[in-house]
Amino acid sequence: MEHLAVIMDGNGRWAEKRHLPRLMGHRAGAEALDRCMHYCKDAGIKYLTVYAFSTENWKRSEEEVSGLMKLLSGFIHSKEKTLVKERVRFRVIGRRGDLSEKLQAEIADLEARTADGDFTLIVALSYGGRDEIVRAAMKFKGGSEEDFAKCLDTAGLPDPDLIIRTSGEQRTSNFLLWQSAYSEYYFTETLWPDFDRAEFDKALESYAKRERRMGGRLKK
Ligand code: FPP
Repeated sequence: MEHLAVIMDGNGRWAEKRHLPRLMGHRAGAEALDRCMHYCKDAGIKYLTVYAFSTENWKRSEEEVSGLMKLLSGFIHSKEKTLVKERVRFRVIGRRGDLSEKLQAEIADLEARTADGDFTLIVALSYGGRDEIVRAAMKFKGGSEEDFAKCLDTAGLPDPDLIIRTSGEQRTSNFLLWQSAYSEYYFTETLWPDFDRAEFDKALESYAKRERRMGGRLKK
């Protein structure tokens, strides 16, 4: 498997179960993401895409939105050195213009500093699959599916092989709509902050058992 994508769901419920503020759930979610990156590297996966903030998430409370933005900014600052050292390429997809100018600048800076990494972490921020397709359509000058894909935020990235969604929800929620045409899905009841190596291994085992025909073309 080359590319794993994750809908990191259930942070809020994880916190509520512990009578903690929702933001503590997101904080634990950021730690789970950090761990997941290492599981991917150990498994030889080259790309990890995570759904960190959807176009719909702006509707959450002011407190939760600003908390999540601070968490992202904190993640960028605290992880910068490690990402460079561990050769992780950082990339953001979504409507980055919706983010504060400060956060946009921090993202651009980290993307530039990690440009030569050999493992890619793609963070979907203010991201919606339909929105991405509409923006791509505005750039598209005609041509093939491959030409269209070059207009998407994910230009140059392989499509995800497997998409994991945690916390028991079984929806795609507007995540990687174009790119998931032939992706496998794996759903688990586990809440994202509790997602550990055993869960990761289970998802990969399930994926390994599936026969991917890709609409006729058999692919490993
Ligand atoms: C869904 O759980 C999760 C989110 C909306 C945010 C995901 C963000 C992170 C894991 C944090 C950090 C990311 C980075 C890149 C540092 P939910 O709040 O919808 O949970 P609920 O359904 O239980 O309420």
